[in-house]
Amino acid sequence: MMELELDMGRVITIDGPAASGKTSVSRELARRLGWNWVSTGAFYRGLAYTAYRLKYDLQDEEKLAQLSMSNKWRIEMTESKTRVLFADEDVTDDIATEEVGSVASQISRLPKVRDSLLGGQRDCRARTEGLIAEGRDCGTIVFPDAEVKIYLTARSEDRAARRAKELGTSESETIAAQQIRDKQDSSRKAAPLTIPEKAFVVDSSKLSFDEVVSKVEVFVRKELKKN
Ligand code: DC
Repeated sequence: MMELELDMGRVITIDGPAASGKTSVSRELARRLGWNWVSTGAFYRGLAYTAYRLKYDLQDEEKLAQLSMSNKWRIEMTESKTRVLFADEDVTDDIATEEVGSVASQISRLPKVRDSLLGGQRDCRARTEGLIAEGRDCGTIVFPDAEVKIYLTARSEDRAARRAKELGTSESETIAAQQIRDKQDSSRKAAPLTIPEKAFVVDSSKLSFDEVVSKVEVFVRKELKKN
């Protein structure tokens, strides 16, 4: 009997805590490999933003799960951005704030919300030859069969300094908000942030951006050659 070949591309996952550099590193890696790139955090941020704008109750798991599948908002994967559109308005820049990150983290602990976003995240693979997916549970839940898994981390002070610089906010406020988010993301029952089995762990605290990307790239190319 002929085996059914699903049109599934190759996947590399990059997980890690807030502001660990996942986005910039994974995006640059995707550019170097000529692969597609997706931020799964944008799904949570997009839903959080939409729920907030439409004044939804952020505890109402059922309603949020329904909203995640409505046409009130959508995600578009482009080469260098995971775009979020709210009622056809591009809100990609608006969802980057730590406030939206915090609401995203709150709703991401709800199992029905996670389940409802999973299909859309997995679909990103079907349309590509190679996909780099970044987030919190990409190597554990979204793409457990990924060919290569990376876990990127850094000291909390370094991560806060990086995010504060990016957003133009104060370091002390950013570190406080991030610590709450890290705790929420790692201690939740549904798909908590953990290091995936066999993941290559990179601590970027004492490394420059180029050093991190090079380290990850060398490892990834070596692993891809094995398959
Ligand atoms: O990566 P980010 O900062 O854009 O993610 C925002 C929030 O979304 C994060 O604090 C937790 C949630 N998230 C998640 O639970 N699982 C993912 N794969 C990605 C993000």
